[in-house]
Amino acid sequence: MSDESALTLRPDADGIAEAAHLLAAGRLVAFPTETVYGLGADARNGEAVAAIFAAKGRPSFNPLIVHVSDVDAARQYVQWSEVADRLAAAFWPGPLTLVLPRADHCGLSDLVTAGLGTVAIRVPAQASAQALLAGFGGPVAAPSANPSGRISPTTAAHVIAGLADRVAAVLDDGPCAVGLESTIVGLAEDAPQLLRAGGLPTEALEHALGEPLALPSSGEISAPGQLSSHYAPAARVRLFAEKAQGDEVLLGFGHMDCTLNLSERGDLMEAAANLFGHLHRLDAMGRPIAVASVPETGLGRAINDRLRRAAAPRD
Ligand code: TXA
Ligand code: MG
Repeated sequence: MSDESALTLRPDADGIAEAAHLLAAGRLVAFPTETVYGLGADARNGEAVAAIFAAKGRPSFNPLIVHVSDVDAARQYVQWSEVADRLAAAFWPGPLTLVLPRADHCGLSDLVTAGLGTVAIRVPAQASAQALLAGFGGPVAAPSANPSGRISPTTAAHVIAGLADRVAAVLDDGPCAVGLESTIVGLAEDAPQLLRAGGLPTEALEHALGEPLALPSSGEISAPGQLSSHYAPAARVRLFAEKAQGDEVLLGFGHMDCTLNLSERGDLMEAAANLFGHLHRLDAMGRPIAVASVPETGLGRAINDRLRRAAAPRD
């Protein structure tokens, strides 16, 4: 680890050009997407991708999402399909990742896919991410820009708090609008599978597909980020709380007395956008965290998934 701290770049033409230049030079650049900040590297450069795993302290079996600027770019790296076309037309650019069979001679580093025969790929909607992908002109591998297993970053300040001396630069474009990682759909099997609930509600996907999403065949780690303890604050987390006990701080939902509220008016989109930022702030208070119940519909499913992992027993 070096003592050098990351350069903060603005999302203007100069900042984007500098970020693209650093990626081309094999360096790590944290950049905003509409979901969370990503820790980006050139997906064709094995050493650059290895640096992502080292910076995050991430188990090497956990594959990364490849970010590209549009469907045409995506088709270079995966075996495209009719269902992929339908979902991409409906939801790209946006918070949806598709897992498809890897194209032959796709040029991606083997580390990106952690040796799997499939690639997770997405087109982010954030204008600054689009500008970076266009300026760089290649595929960018990026996990969320947090140390492995910790809370995902939804601001540049979160990235700097977790990884400052491990990235060359952070492109600061303010807080993320969606605030939850992308929904991941597996299209490498017969039926489309929900591999991770996320920023695109399952109901919207099922509407576009005209059929319910299958759950992955049990026992197999299809999205290895789905290990039980994840998104974990340093503090202990207690779920389904009605009020704080002892010295707990309370993360509320809906009209209630609490330390921070995900959404006073009970809006799940607002709650998703606030989730990780509020967890970061409560964690910094150094007290155990109690969390109110959140309804299990729409984005509530992904919010509850992240909260369950935050509360899961740690290794
Ligand atoms: O919104 C997002 O998806 C953010 C932004 C930066 O794009 N990225 C993100 O990446 O959440 P990460 O690495 O934190 O989570 C990626 C998930 C992991 O659970 C990983 O196991 C899964 O995607 N994944 C990656 N490649 C896969 C593959 N070929 N098959 C199945 N799952 C895969
Ligand atoms: Mg992550």
